[in-house]
Amino acid sequence: MFKVAIAGTGYVGLVSGVCFAEVGHQVTCVDIDEKKVNLMKSGVSPIYESGLEELMQKNNAEGRIDYTTNFQSAYRNADVIFIGVGTPEQPDGSANLSYISTVARQIAESVENDCLVVVKSTVPVGTNDKVEQFIKDFLVNDVRIEVASNPEFLAQGSAVHDTLYAERIIIGTESKWAEDRLREIYEPFHLPIVSVNRRSAEMIKYASNDFLALKISYMNDIANLCELVGADVQDVAEGMSFDERIGSKFLNAGIGFGGSCFPKDTKALDNISRENGYELRTVKAAIDVNKDQKISLYKKASKRLITFNGLKVAVLGLTFKPGTDDLREAPSLANVPLLLEQGADIYAYDPVGASNFSKVYPEGDFDKGTITYVDDIEQALANANVCFIFTEWGEVKAVTPDAYKRLMRTPLVYDGRNIYENYDMREAGVEYHSIGRASVNREAIKESKNHELQTVRS
Ligand code: UDX
Repeated sequence: MFKVAIAGTGYVGLVSGVCFAEVGHQVTCVDIDEKKVNLMKSGVSPIYESGLEELMQKNNAEGRIDYTTNFQSAYRNADVIFIGVGTPEQPDGSANLSYISTVARQIAESVENDCLVVVKSTVPVGTNDKVEQFIKDFLVNDVRIEVASNPEFLAQGSAVHDTLYAERIIIGTESKWAEDRLREIYEPFHLPIVSVNRRSAEMIKYASNDFLALKISYMNDIANLCELVGADVQDVAEGMSFDERIGSKFLNAGIGFGGSCFPKDTKALDNISRENGYELRTVKAAIDVNKDQKISLYKKASKRLITFNGLKVAVLGLTFKPGTDDLREAPSLANVPLLLEQGADIYAYDPVGASNFSKVYPEGDFDKGTITYVDDIEQALANANVCFIFTEWGEVKAVTPDAYKRLMRTPLVYDGRNIYENYDMREAGVEYHSIGRASVNREAIKESKNHELQTVRS
């Protein structure tokens, strides 16, 4: 078993650290934030991730994992150091590598033993070469240092499972020594390992993520066409999915992809291609489709309602997907400012994301609209004029079509996640607009409720 140090305790770093401890390695997680370190020491996970806290507590108690701000002590005798710090997107779409270079410098100044440095963060092709050179340039002691690429494919919400039962481990190395060491570290996981060179490993990460992003944007593009030609995108996806070459996953049309990876990695690859004098047209198209998709329901609703001024707008779901409190690139962040600008009175519900969202949009009055956070969905829907569904939380899916009819002033629902069957909403008398499918009860509500909508607006 190895002495493993992990730089950065975000999703990638902390989940990897806990899982390495779980399979028996001795792990030290390093973070600059002392408060966070103390939390983790006491068994509290700073991120909401299913199953993580339990596994942390178990490994804390069994003494296989520790947390520190003291990077020297963590790196000094480590056999392997994983770098899992962020590579945030810069205004031009390229990746900001300053956190990685800070860690690389700290490693160079601390290590006293031969050590394999493994970059887990998503980095532009060629970065691992640079990190290795950088560390060697600043190396204080006469030890063997090599850098390997080991991109991470965990999805938020299922990160622990994705790590312990990954479909493949990609290792990118430039020597047998590095490959053998990394293989040995992953040996206790008993997972398929694909061993390639460093640049290919870096490229595999982008190519995989961007392919999935492309798949989603393709389905969203098809969904928009389905609406125009009277087809149902979910039926279309089902029909496509039986072809094994296409597969059944990531065919869900919706309100666009968000999160920490797809938006950032599509822009980064677009940027990498342009830097290399090439235009990656498919990825550029995926980015463009996604940008429009995020506000497609807002646009539909704007046409339908003319204005949101003075309307009570229920927003169900704020996070970019269920099972996480992460708001990065969430569709809600694209829509809420537009609604507020239009004078909407928003009542937002999210089982875990509301507190993070309120840091960006504090409860209260804005220039024109207002935002209120509610703990139960009924409060959001009570007397609402319109409801937007942005995240398919279980709690949201559990709302019956009848509840919209019963609670809302005008049962008008814009569903960005295609949670309901059209026929259920039709039967319940809810005007229902979703993605890539026909709208339901449009005329009925117009006739019976238009008066009310007008009244509220005036
Ligand atoms: C993703 C990749 O799945 C993971 O392998 C990679 O390491 C990081 O990026 P994550 O961002 O956590 O993980 O979430 P994921 O479940 O993949 O969803 C990303 C976005 O795509 C979400 O906004 C989701 O709603 C959207 N999505 C996903 C769709 O709109 N349709 C789909 O069919 C699937």
